[in-house]
Amino acid sequence: MARSTTQYVCQQCGTVHKKWAGRCDSCGEWNSISEEATPESIPKGLGGGKKGRKIEFVGLEGSEAQVPRRVSGIAEFDRVCGGGLVPGSALLVGGDPGIGKSTLLLQAVGRLAAKHRCVYISGEEAIDQVRMRAKRLGYADAKVDLAAATNVRDICATFDDKDAPDVLVIDSIQTMYVDNLDSAPGSVAQVRTSAQELIRLAKRRGFCVILVGHVTKEGQIAGPRILEHMVDTVLYFEGDRGHQFRILRAVKNRFGATDEIGVFEMTEKGLSEITNPSALFLADHRGDVSGSTVFAGMEGSRPMLVEIQSLLAPSPYGTPRRSVVGWDSSRLSMIMAVLEARCSIAMGDNDVYLNVAGGLRIAEPAADLAVAASLISALNNIAMPNQTVAFGEVGLSGEVRPVGQMEARLKEAAKLGFKRAIVPEAVSSGKGKRKGLGATGLDVLEIRHLNDLVGVFRDLAVGGGETEANRA
Ligand code: TYD
Ligand code: MG
Repeated sequence: MARSTTQYVCQQCGTVHKKWAGRCDSCGEWNSISEEATPESIPKGLGGGKKGRKIEFVGLEGSEAQVPRRVSGIAEFDRVCGGGLVPGSALLVGGDPGIGKSTLLLQAVGRLAAKHRCVYISGEEAIDQVRMRAKRLGYADAKVDLAAATNVRDICATFDDKDAPDVLVIDSIQTMYVDNLDSAPGSVAQVRTSAQELIRLAKRRGFCVILVGHVTKEGQIAGPRILEHMVDTVLYFEGDRGHQFRILRAVKNRFGATDEIGVFEMTEKGLSEITNPSALFLADHRGDVSGSTVFAGMEGSRPMLVEIQSLLAPSPYGTPRRSVVGWDSSRLSMIMAVLEARCSIAMGDNDVYLNVAGGLRIAEPAADLAVAASLISALNNIAMPNQTVAFGEVGLSGEVRPVGQMEARLKEAAKLGFKRAIVPEAVSSGKGKRKGLGATGLDVLEIRHLNDLVGVFRDLAVGGGETEANRA
């Protein structure tokens, strides 16, 4: 039987299918399968007479000279990378088109160029466009070597010698192509092979290669997901089009922690670092509005305060709406169910809107208590006690559970001028821990069950003043 000359490859996950389909069985993505020529060579296994070489082994204790990291000086970027770029490593920066990846990396190499040799290869923009942008960003004088190229063979030939650069930026990997392959640039085969060649070169020559990858919804070009396993570090640059904030998030890092985020603001002069995100996310916070609470969260090693708002309105429909921005909607359903079953607070007939202000996405279960407080506050139309933060995980029986890094959260709250905190009761009431909480100078109310939180609001409704009611 003649072998078919085409195959169908999902551009999202790389799975090869025999037939075209509207949806990839493997990753569930719609419209991501496209036709490609079947590669000529079929692996033949190890038969065929050629003999391999024996591998030599070394011990773990060998002394490897520690090569210092390349620090850009953009603190938010360096921290997310785990303290700077590691020589001989590959870094992938993914994100939606237009989110600011090119801007971020141009700024990073603009800074790095003061100490290291940096090359920026653009496959998307013409040289003049990049120059214009550099000028606007204030890096017109930076010693960055700039080129517009897309052929991986040329790029490898240029840098495969002793004076390879220290940092090489490829913007973007989806525009690169290897001339051995028939498929178009941006296809899974091209993106994978191009990345493989560039990463191999970087490891061999000991420089850091930064690959830009566009996240694509339509599946016309291969997404950065198919590269995640090949690189050492994966950063995603995300943000809401409606907001100027951009968040750089590490999702994989062989040289550092993965829960770090860096916060930037897109201005007319490029991305500027936000060193105190709490202040930014709380900028428009008004304490005396019902439905609004402040959650003391952690993003990686850094505490961050964010405002959570909710609004309840009687639903005109049989099935009320649940609309959540910045949080997990199934988690919201859970909190509402717990409030109803354990505290007899029913909000079932209402449309519920929950919003994390500022366009941030929260993934921590520690936000449960702040969400519950926001819902109770909105339902009863009673504002939270003034200048109060809340955090704690809520269990299905309504119990409020301790979360990590309580002290860091409270310190951040105190730093930003908050006076009170509603927190979970520490299980092992070790003296040191309580002392630690007290030492932050906040008036800390430790609660064990959601009913205690309901009690706080009940006292507010009766007393009309929040100061006395909230004293533990
Ligand atoms: P860009 O870095 O080109 O995005 P990507 O490489 O991820 O596709 O960013 C483009 C957006 O950033 C564009 O919509 C305009 C905005 N921008 C600013 O607001 N200020 C600036 O100084 C720059 C350079 C871009
Ligand atoms: Mg770009």
